[in-house]
Formats: sequence, C-alpha cells, structure tokens
Amino acid sequence: MATILGIESTCDETAAAVVVGGREVRSNIVATQAAIHAKYRGVVPEIASRAHLENICPVIQEALSAAHLAMGDIDAVAVAYRPGLIGSLLIGVTAAKALAWSLGKPLIGVDHVHAHLYSVMLGKANEVPLPAVGLVCSGGHTALYRLKSWLDVTLVGSTLDDAVGEAYDKVSAILGLGYPGGPILDDLARAGSADAVTFPRALLARDSLDFSFSGLKTSVLYHVRGKAGRERSADALDDQQKRDVAAAFQTACVDVLVEKIRRAAQRFSARSVVIGGGVSANRGLRQAMSNFPLPVFFPAPPYCTDNAAMIAGLGDLLLQNGKTSPLDLDAVTYSQFVA
Ligand code: KG4
Ligand code: ZN
Repeated sequence: MATILGIESTCDETAAAVVVGGREVRSNIVATQAAIHAKYRGVVPEIASRAHLENICPVIQEALSAAHLAMGDIDAVAVAYRPGLIGSLLIGVTAAKALAWSLGKPLIGVDHVHAHLYSVMLGKANEVPLPAVGLVCSGGHTALYRLKSWLDVTLVGSTLDDAVGEAYDKVSAILGLGYPGGPILDDLARAGSADAVTFPRALLARDSLDFSFSGLKTSVLYHVRGKAGRERSADALDDQQKRDVAAAFQTACVDVLVEKIRRAAQRFSARSVVIGGGVSANRGLRQAMSNFPLPVFFPAPPYCTDNAAMIAGLGDLLLQNGKTSPLDLDAVTYSQFVA
C-alpha cells in the first residue's frame, strides 16, 4: 500500500495530508485563511497566494510529523494542479514538484473538483455502488457528474451563474453576517421557519441538469433591502426574521439540489449518489437526502471543505493506474470536470 503526501492550495486553504492505501488518513493539516479574507467578504487572490507561500512548508512539515513519518517514507507526492486561482495553485504545484524531484518519487497532478467527489471514500471501508450521480457543491462549483468509475467521470450539468456556496456567502453578506456564510446560515436556519418567506426555485427546463442561483440571491436581496435593493438595510430585520430568511433560503437551495440529483439519478439509472464540496456539510441538505431512494455518500466533516487528504486519496488511485505527471506539470485555472 502506497503512502501519499497530498498538497492543496487552489484557493484560500493551505493544506497537506498523508494518506495510506487511498483511504486511511494518517494526517490532515489545513491552514485556513478565512480570517484574513473575512473583512473583504471574499477571497483576495494576491493576499491568498502570499499567505500560501508563508504556510506551505510548515503545513507539509506538520502533516509529516503528525503522521510520524520522515520525508523519505513518502512513496509519491500528489498535488491539486487545477482548477483554482493561478497564484495560489502555483505555490502548491511548485512545492510538490520540488519535493518529488528531490526525493526521486512520482509526482501526481490531481483535479481538485474530481477529488471533492472522491472525498466520500476517505476513512471508509465500503464501496460506492456504480454508476453513481456525483454532486460537487462548494464556493466555486455546483456541478453534477455521472460516475461510471472513480476515474471515468463525466460532467452532465453545472451552474449557469453563481455556485451554491457563493450564494450562501452573498446572502450572509446581505444579512450583515460573516464570511464564509454557509456555516453561519446553516446554524441560523435551524431556528428559523422556512415557510415564513417564499423564495424562487430555479429548476430551469423540465429535463435540465443545470443550476442557477443568482435569481434566488437577488430575491433575498429584495426581500431584505426593498424592491430597489437599497430602501432598507438588514438592520431593519430582527433576529427571528433573519433566521426565517436563512431557513427559507436554505430550503430553496436544498430543494433545487435534490431535484437535480433526482433527475440525473433517473436519467442515468444510478445506483447511488456521491456529494462533496463545502456545501456537503450542510445539515439541511444531509437531512433532505436522508429520504432519498438510493444510498447517499457524504464525506466525513473534515473532508467536506478544501483539504489535502482528498488530493492524496485520489492521487493513490491515479498512481495505481499509472497516471503520474511529468515534472513540468503546469498549474491550470480551469478543470476538465467543470464546463
Ligand atoms: O469546498 P470549499 O471549501 O471551497 C471551494 O472549493 O469552493 O467550499 C467552501 C464553501 C463556502 O462557500 C462556504 O460558505 C460553503 O462551502 N459551506 C457551506 C457550509 N459549510 C461550508 N455551505 C452551506 N452549509 C454549510 N454547512
Ligand atoms: Zn473545493
């Protein structure tokens, strides 16, 4: 069984992890920059790449020491080389190449979005029945996939505008709350009444597997601030009204995600559903999917948001299939797994 060092730096988390045999996570270190970007209510790319540069070596060292390993014990280095912010990606990719070259070990370039799907396998012994429908829902992506195998993944639908996590972050800002918005609204929604407000569900054409969240976001804006979007402020809402908006918004998002999964599962005769990405931590989504008529696989909580264990795990599978990368591997901003 191979011991893989994974490195992740696509956006605003600098992460390193050691995974054995593709599933057993020996260490999972994440240095988050959320506090740095919070005052801008979103990620500032130049600040992110500078923070990655400061964090990358200590994070890798910590991942090795937490796994009680030395650098030489690693069999291969896996790195997220796409998609992401170019300045951020370059830090992880450059570190991974330097390590692979100096250790004389294989380098494995891993697609970050593909790895979010694989994250459901970490720490698990069971197999996912295939074919499966995959959903990656995060701050950067909302996309549906048909999985014939872990390495045979086809994009079948994606968002036409905002990602669902991005909509959470923007609605949190509209309500005058913090960043990232997902966990904050998820908590508020628990004590809110989803029926207190009705927000639209963009299901698009009857057979569409695509998503759209910008209309929902604008509808929340108009509800909170008035028709012109600036007649009132979020301060006019009391705490219960904010909870109700959170609950109604969350229910609208979850309804759309579940309906698109249902359509895809039916169209591809899927035997299971795999859901990854930051929004897969959402309690409303997990609750709604608990009634789904197929087995549903979510990642364990530490592997929902960006992490390097999923990069090392999928890296192991790629290594087993001879899919290693040359040392001139380039960072790429887009994914073949995203339209
Ligand atoms: O996967 P991730 O860490 O980064 C990207 O690849 O984008 O996802 C971060 C996103 C943020 O938009 C955050 O608000 C959202 O995931 N998120 C959640 C929850 N936890 C994180 N959204 C809804 N409910 C949650 N519990
Ligand atoms: Zn991600």
